[in-house]
Amino acid sequence: KILILDFGSQVTQLIARRIREIGVYCEIYPFDADLSLIKEFNAQGIILSGSPESTTEENSPRAPSWVFEAGVPVLGICYGLQTMTVQLGGTVQGSSKREYGHATVEVKAACPLFDGLTDHVGEKKLDVWMSHGDKVTAIPEGFVTVGSTDTCPYAAVYNEQKQFYGVQFHPEVTHSVQGAEMLKRFALNVCGLHGLWSPSAIIDDAVARIREQVGDKKVLLGLSGGVDSSVTALLLQKAIGKQLTCVFVDNGLLRLNEGQQVKEMFEPMDLNFVYADASDRFLEALKGISDPELKRKAIGKTFIDVFADEARKLDDVEFLAQGTIYPDVIESAAAKSGKAHVIKSHHNVGGLPEDLKFKLVEPLRELFKDEVRRIGIALGLPESMVMRHPFPGPGLGVRVLGEVKKEYLDLLRRADAIFMEELNKTGWYQKVSQAFTVFLPVRAVGVMGDHRSYDFVVSLRAVKTIDFMTAKWAELPYDLLGHISNRIINEINGISRVVYDISGKPPATIEWE
Ligand code: XMP
Repeated sequence: KILILDFGSQVTQLIARRIREIGVYCEIYPFDADLSLIKEFNAQGIILSGSPESTTEENSPRAPSWVFEAGVPVLGICYGLQTMTVQLGGTVQGSSKREYGHATVEVKAACPLFDGLTDHVGEKKLDVWMSHGDKVTAIPEGFVTVGSTDTCPYAAVYNEQKQFYGVQFHPEVTHSVQGAEMLKRFALNVCGLHGLWSPSAIIDDAVARIREQVGDKKVLLGLSGGVDSSVTALLLQKAIGKQLTCVFVDNGLLRLNEGQQVKEMFEPMDLNFVYADASDRFLEALKGISDPELKRKAIGKTFIDVFADEARKLDDVEFLAQGTIYPDVIESAAAKSGKAHVIKSHHNVGGLPEDLKFKLVEPLRELFKDEVRRIGIALGLPESMVMRHPFPGPGLGVRVLGEVKKEYLDLLRRADAIFMEELNKTGWYQKVSQAFTVFLPVRAVGVMGDHRSYDFVVSLRAVKTIDFMTAKWAELPYDLLGHISNRIINEINGISRVVYDISGKPPATIEWE
């Protein structure tokens, strides 16, 4: 396995994803993690990440010197290269000018990272992506330059004897065309690892660990129907069968037929499935509230109340399972240490009441979303479910603007179902990152045959994004939008107008509330 020491780059997670895609297990530790933990991890290779910091600043972060004495291959990326350089006796010069974007690296000497790699016309050149200000001006003893660009003489360096590698560019981003191949060469050829981290290996590993942690005790899981909680349910089912109880809370804020689908999928399985129909309780709690934050709070609180009621009906449950995934873990660790800028954190399940104390089981804690999806498929979840767009915890509660009423929810559900059906039919569902419909509780005039109508408005929203922190509105074809609009207005009595949301994030958010 590979250890990635994180110096705070925005793209450190991508390094881990690329390594895992190769089938090699890796984890990210902060650069200043306890040295005993770092040693205990027992890595066969270490990668030093990039960073927004500068090695020329006093007190800027350094790798523990143990890293260079451990006898395992080390790859420094961007800042990782720079700190390796200064720590081993080379020099780095600061610069106020950033080099940002595409660059061509000319391969100067043989290096295992570049073995057999060429550009599109077969020349020994590499298309890479750079983002740095500082640069290396002298390399430490024992290193040779293996690649350079017009502006960056030490774009790739190599110490054969020690198996230290450094690159100024970012092989982990997809703009570095041969980047994934370089990381593959590092993990497999240089570190001598094997790509065994496959879906079935992940499943076996998770099942064994769940059994070890839980023994013969009972486990409770709040099933939302989303990918993470569904995969968590399937893993637990496989590991402990009937010791698992899944509680699905129907908050009445779900999409068309969604509750039914979850029921049909999980009820026949060899586990205890509880369907808690609490739509009325949620609607009651939302009555008269139109402020978005107060709505979220009311929904969150009602969820806890309902879930706690269900939990109290069960005997001897010792564990609560959660579908926490690796990016959540990294994000909350970063938030705690104050080292990353957290733009938004979502809490769907706040704390449970005092009398319900459980130990946590989190079988997806070390997995990325794409790994969760792959094991979901391997565990038999249908593709349509695994590739679903994200859906917020408060559900349609934040997609009916203002006060939530049953009548509005029903109209929204039908309109959204038409939108999704058309996106699926035309292949646009997979091409956008998230798409949904928003109900606007205002009325607009229309003509339907000989009648004047005076009905509600819905807005369609479709966005493209990588990380949901920023997003662009999707350029859906006009004829598709026109067709969806016609269908919604003709088929749904009560909606007289459809608009398309063309706001980017920022300044808008993806959801409307
Ligand atoms: P915004 O609206 O902040 O949304 O641009 C970013 C992403 O987060 C989802 N979202 C939520 N997810 N609970 C969730 O689990 C929530 O309360 C929540 N609010 C927004 C939103 O759908 C989008 O994918």
